[in-house]
Amino acid sequence: MALVSLKPIIDAANQYHYGQGAFNVNAVAQAKAVIEVHEMFRSPAILQGADLANGFMGGCTDFVHATLEDKKRGAKRIAEAVRTYGENASIPVVLHLDHGKDYEACKAAIDGGYTSVMIDGSSLPFDQNVELTREVVRYAHQRGVSVEGELGVLAGVEDHVFAADSTYTNPLKAIEFFKKTGVDALAISYGTMHGASKGKDVKLRCQIPSAIRECMNHEGITGGLVSHGSSTVPAYIVEEINALGGELNNTGGISMKELKEAIACGINKINVDTDIRLAVTRNMKELFQAHSSLRTSGEVGEIYRLLEENREKFDPRVFLTPIMDTVMFGRIPNSDVAAITDCIERGVKEVVGTLIVQFGSYGKAPLVQCKTLEEMKEFYRENER
Ligand code: G3H
Ligand code: 13P
Ligand code: ZN
Repeated sequence: MALVSLKPIIDAANQYHYGQGAFNVNAVAQAKAVIEVHEMFRSPAILQGADLANGFMGGCTDFVHATLEDKKRGAKRIAEAVRTYGENASIPVVLHLDHGKDYEACKAAIDGGYTSVMIDGSSLPFDQNVELTREVVRYAHQRGVSVEGELGVLAGVEDHVFAADSTYTNPLKAIEFFKKTGVDALAISYGTMHGASKGKDVKLRCQIPSAIRECMNHEGITGGLVSHGSSTVPAYIVEEINALGGELNNTGGISMKELKEAIACGINKINVDTDIRLAVTRNMKELFQAHSSLRTSGEVGEIYRLLEENREKFDPRVFLTPIMDTVMFGRIPNSDVAAITDCIERGVKEVVGTLIVQFGSYGKAPLVQCKTLEEMKEFYRENER
């Protein structure tokens, strides 16, 4: 089936009380693996390309400095990859822009084939956040595309998510934000944070999603509540990376217990990127340890050098630059490159499969009331008059 928007998938998670993971991808092999593992578990699927993922997939290896042109090219490539595997899948698949930086980045994603976008105005004063988000909602809903906004600021690795302080979301402001912007989902701040160093034994303030959900019910608002920065940072993977020469310190994630409680308190969409990065990095290190001849391979030896030079890093984008043709188009020219894509796919499936089961979205694909973007366009036209 054609890619769907976020709204029907969030509506099903809300109605049937399960958590829906949303998983970041930065390469064709990751998109393929995320879709395949969701199909295996008969789960609806949300794939996310962050603003920088679009830049990277646009060919900018220095992705932190990607231009709008890079992002436009990359958005089309991610959409192409997700359509290739998603349109023939037996489950509903959404392609969602994660942390859209501004109106232009959201427009580029929508024009490139994304079926849902996030506009992250969380670092702006409330009124400016509302204004920017409304502008994106107008453009997106006219095309049947859903929108996630953000209110409140997460702490953590925020250099590319536009803010440095942590302030929890005010539930009353969240209701006002839903009403003023018409967003389909709202990312809230309630104790999670991005990256692999979230602290030890993080406790979430689940009263916040509870209060927002309660007020939403009173006001007849049916949107989704989104938990960013929700990686569990599995200790076993970190230990394996460090045993293979990695230098990851002060790591810690959100426990599954806390995430399950958050789901029970009204969180629907749970964003995970870091866990995937960790598993893929571990797999590549393991590969080069087990097959030392690959360290001098003309095709992938450079990946080994980058892993060795960046022992404290775990973002596969840092290591995969020597095979951008594979990253961007999924081309696999020989068995050495095939071994790397296998590392990527297995890493994704290990982490995403675990979370599909833990969040409870397995078997839920048939419950989603899928609508085409045309139907969603009509829905918004009817409901926003
Ligand atoms: O929430 C942030 C995601 O992990 C995306 O990260 O901006 O480095 O692609 P990125
Ligand atoms: P993690 O860094 O915890 O995986 O968070 C990912 C995220 O929030 C993507 O938007
Ligand atoms: Zn995020």
